[in-house]
Amino acid sequence: MVCLCEGVSERKVRKSIEHGACTVAEVTEACRAGGRCGGCRPTIDAMLLQHADADARRIHLSIA
Ligand code: FES
Repeated sequence: MVCLCEGVSERKVRKSIEHGACTVAEVTEACRAGGRCGGCRPTIDAMLLQHADADARRIHLSIA
């Protein structure tokens, strides 16, 4: 569970990111994670960074 306040799983946050959420606010809008106490926002931010890094690596590999 990533967001205890809203009961949002890691899988659901990941899906929101895969479907285009690029900021914590967008993830909150998509699945409600991060919309209350904010305690999970650093975790969501880390997941966004991981996703961006993976995208950057894929792009780098595709043009290399
Ligand atoms: S744990 Fe996610 S808003 Fe509180």
